[in-house]
Amino acid sequence: MSVQVEPVVVQRWSLRPGVYRATAANGDLMLAAWPNAALLGRTSPELTALLEELSGEPVALPESPAVDGMRAGGWLSKVVFCAGRPLHTVVPIAPPAVVEPPVGGLRLSRFAVLRNTDDGLVVEKPGSWCDIRVHDPAVAALLADPSGDAGLPAEAAAAVRADLIAAGMLVAEEDTSFTERQWGAHELWFHERSRLGHRGWFGAHFGGTFWARGHHAPPPARPEPYAGEPITLPKADIAALRREDPPLTAVLEDRESVRDHDDDNPITLERLGEFLHRCGRVRLERTLDGFEYTNKPYPAGGSAYELEIYPVVRLASGLDAGMYHYDAHDHRLRLVVPGEHQAVRRILKVATESSVAKSTPQVVLVISARVGRIMWKYEAMGYALMLKHVGVLQQTMYAVATAMNLAPCALGSGDSLAFTAATGRDRLAECAVGEFMLGSRRQEVAAWEL
Ligand SMILES: Cc1cc2nc3c(=O)[nH]c(=O)nc-3n(C[C@H](O)[C@H](O)[C@H](O)COP(=O)(O)O)c2cc1C
Repeated sequence: MSVQVEPVVVQRWSLRPGVYRATAANGDLMLAAWPNAALLGRTSPELTALLEELSGEPVALPESPAVDGMRAGGWLSKVVFCAGRPLHTVVPIAPPAVVEPPVGGLRLSRFAVLRNTDDGLVVEKPGSWCDIRVHDPAVAALLADPSGDAGLPAEAAAAVRADLIAAGMLVAEEDTSFTERQWGAHELWFHERSRLGHRGWFGAHFGGTFWARGHHAPPPARPEPYAGEPITLPKADIAALRREDPPLTAVLEDRESVRDHDDDNPITLERLGEFLHRCGRVRLERTLDGFEYTNKPYPAGGSAYELEIYPVVRLASGLDAGMYHYDAHDHRLRLVVPGEHQAVRRILKVATESSVAKSTPQVVLVISARVGRIMWKYEAMGYALMLKHVGVLQQTMYAVATAMNLAPCALGSGDSLAFTAATGRDRLAECAVGEFMLGSRRQEVAAWEL
């Protein structure tokens, strides 16, 4: 009598999570995981039994053309066992890609991330056709030392390695391609996960799902006020500006970044008030289904208007140096910290260094986001949305500053920690996401006047 010896490495298969069985209009059986679907052919007892089998605990891969099609279409998960213990599961999110075997030594791709989820540890990489769920510490050890065996039998280590290579997670040691090297790991992750595509689909933990409704109270439209005495700001005369302002084309064509300010005639409190009124005041507030929506002169996704403006003042006529918060509801300023505060000096210094300004700007407008205003509604794309709003607000600031003959210049980055130090706000609740320099514009002097 011959005894069948179970091989050291065994693979078992099942339909991947999130796949539905359905019947197409023509009666064919189909698999669906929105937005993809695959027709499997005429309903038959064999096909129904096969799908039944693949819907339960992972099984040895049955041989049939339908199974080949499901495998090639990325509909089947594969669990790999070593001597009965599960090592990892390959969970496709797309049809398996053909990956060229790396030449030379192996390393973990710098885009691959091992992280914890409700279903345990998983290795994910932007652009990969699958995730790899880690069940055994030896798999994590192989990530650290891809050429070793992590204490596994050689055949098992080779099976794990092969799946990690096929997933694009273990790559060749040398990486010389510019297209890959230009991406920071966090940037590629952020791009992939905040856009529709491989795994992001509206409603599937993506987009305006209102996921927090019923679990957390929505943050109110009005932020918590700072303790400083309110400073009432002059307003713009919108009716007069409708008649007298330079036309749109003149504003667009004359707009330029001006980094040099006229300290002999600094920006005034009145001009700053008009600027803020035209760019950032609350024009409208209404509550719908328990959420306080607002409206401002610039557009904002979800009408949540999560952005706040903090003028950081070095020099302004009628206003002491310091960091202020702009109360967009009541159009007034409140002091956050005075000019001597280290954070104020730091924000002004960083702005000067990140521009080619000859001198420190008169005012840096720090734009913060009250994160919860957006995150209460949106999943996965909320932070990307906030950064888009920064751009929208910056362009509005450029346009208004140009119309007012002020000196505007957006900044590409700033010091978020200085903002947190000055405001004392929890950085997960409110953080600095943008900066804009503003000041008085030097009047151009004709050569004959010199
Ligand atoms: C989002 C954004 C970020 C910017 N970042 C900086 C910056 O960090 N430093 C700077 O000096 N200028 C910055 N600028 C200004 C650009 O350099 C400027 O818009 C560009 O050179 C075109 O010149 P113009 O604005 O005069 O037409 C930024 C502009 C934008 C829109």
